[in-house]
Amino acid sequence: MDFNQEIKRRRTFAIISHPDAGKTTLTEKLLLFGGAIHVAGAVKSNKIKKTATSDFMEIEKQRGISVATSVMGFEYKDVKINILDTPGHQDFAEDTYRTLTAVDSVIIVVDCAKGVEAQTRKLMEVCRMRNTPVMVFINKLDRNGKDPFDLLDEIEDELKIKVRPLAWPISMGTTFKGVYNLYERNLQLFTEVEKQTIGDSVEIKDINSGELENYVGEYADKLREDLELVEGVYPDFNIDDYLKAKVAPVFFGSALNNFGIRELLNCFIEIAPTPKHFSTDERVIEPNEPKFSGFIFKIHANMDPNHRDRIAFLRIVSGTFERNKNYLHVRHKKQLKFSNPTSFMADKKSIIDEAFPGDIVGLHDTGNFKIGDTLTDGELINFKGIPSFSPELFRYVENADPMKYKQLAKGLDQLMDEGVAQLFINKFNNRKIIGTVGALQFEVIQYRLEHEYSASCRYEPIQLYKACWIKSDDKKELDDFKKRKYQYIAEDKQGRDVFLADSSYSLQMAQEKFPKLEFFFTSEF
Ligand code: G4P
Repeated sequence: MDFNQEIKRRRTFAIISHPDAGKTTLTEKLLLFGGAIHVAGAVKSNKIKKTATSDFMEIEKQRGISVATSVMGFEYKDVKINILDTPGHQDFAEDTYRTLTAVDSVIIVVDCAKGVEAQTRKLMEVCRMRNTPVMVFINKLDRNGKDPFDLLDEIEDELKIKVRPLAWPISMGTTFKGVYNLYERNLQLFTEVEKQTIGDSVEIKDINSGELENYVGEYADKLREDLELVEGVYPDFNIDDYLKAKVAPVFFGSALNNFGIRELLNCFIEIAPTPKHFSTDERVIEPNEPKFSGFIFKIHANMDPNHRDRIAFLRIVSGTFERNKNYLHVRHKKQLKFSNPTSFMADKKSIIDEAFPGDIVGLHDTGNFKIGDTLTDGELINFKGIPSFSPELFRYVENADPMKYKQLAKGLDQLMDEGVAQLFINKFNNRKIIGTVGALQFEVIQYRLEHEYSASCRYEPIQLYKACWIKSDDKKELDDFKKRKYQYIAEDKQGRDVFLADSSYSLQMAQEKFPKLEFFFTSEF
């Protein structure tokens, strides 16, 4: 197969949802459907139990599971599908944002009874910022839920995207009959027997024929009415609008019961975008450029306590990535070669010789990488778009064991490179401040410092509202601001100026009083 065909047959995406909507179940059913796994239950739920906020073993288990299920690749009808997993727990939302930088499209799972929930709304904002095409799967139709038209309105309002149903449910809950596929014009019936297998669908060329009654009985008329309304209300589906992230095709089903999965998958492989171009600070990189380039979007510590190795996840943007070939690590200006690059197929890892744009490769890392790093065939470029978000929870971090100062510094350094949290140094008192987006991270850091670096830390409270990056073309005003706010000025790991606002009021005042200063809430500006 030639290089361009390899690119065209790849679909790299993430499934996102509010916890419990059915992301894990849908992922598993897609793998089952693609023949990548054979039994249900093979994909472990990648979520920390809601009750176990400080259960370290649970966190450790979670980390292990999420390495194994970070990327799940499989082949379906000659298409190479890469599903990137995202953590369900909201304290790890930043991991999810970063993963979304490495995908070409997204499937959003919505629970038909709960509708659009908080986490979905937030994640959709990230997709909107990046113009990522999205499809929606409305799940749990085997339970009573909201009216399908109401759900579609809710999605349009809350997720701020136009929708176009491509499947339609026939009743729901205990009287759920199945889904009609508007894209393929056939019917998939929901029967007890076929709950755990995937039954054949029935082709219905003309929904006005009496044939429909044979299958769905008294629900036939309601289906006809609904479909008429759908066709009347929603404009015809236009693939370009979907690819431009202007409209989201919607499917209905029940992941648990294998329902509506085939419709979703068949349509997905046909219309979902192939690997896209990416911007660098220097120029746009097209996937079909012959020279290799890619970026690190996630770093994961290994589970083996005897090794401090990590796995860095590389998204390939252009060219062919080859095993044992020298590549340029742009930030370090250093050549690196990888003898054991790993690919992920369903629940198995294997060493690969080559990989193509759209693929995710796991690289063994002994501390060379940090999130956002670019690897190339020699060109000096830097991929954009992996911002850190301004944290909202802060604590001073202190060394709790004077003999282990070096270990602590190294541990903190590496954990920050992994993107677990952000470290700031307060210029006023030289104290280190850790900023996170979720409370759980503080415990994760303490635990990992102890277990992986033999270092121990202690936290002390600090009352802060937000940390934001500051910049100005007017040096005088910047210096003046820094002088006046000297207690609240810090540096991030790259030595950039950060303002530590202790309240929303002081942030607002600063913005008003120093109009020539720019305040940034993500690290990319
Ligand atoms: P998540 O990854 O989005 O957090 O959700 P997950 O797939 O773990 O699903 C959450 C719960 O919803 C699970 O039940 C799962 O079995 C159930 N579920 C998923 N899809 C459907 C569906 O189509 N219909 C119905 N009725 N339920 C569905 P649980 O009791 O929390 O977990 P488990 O004990 O079944 O694993």
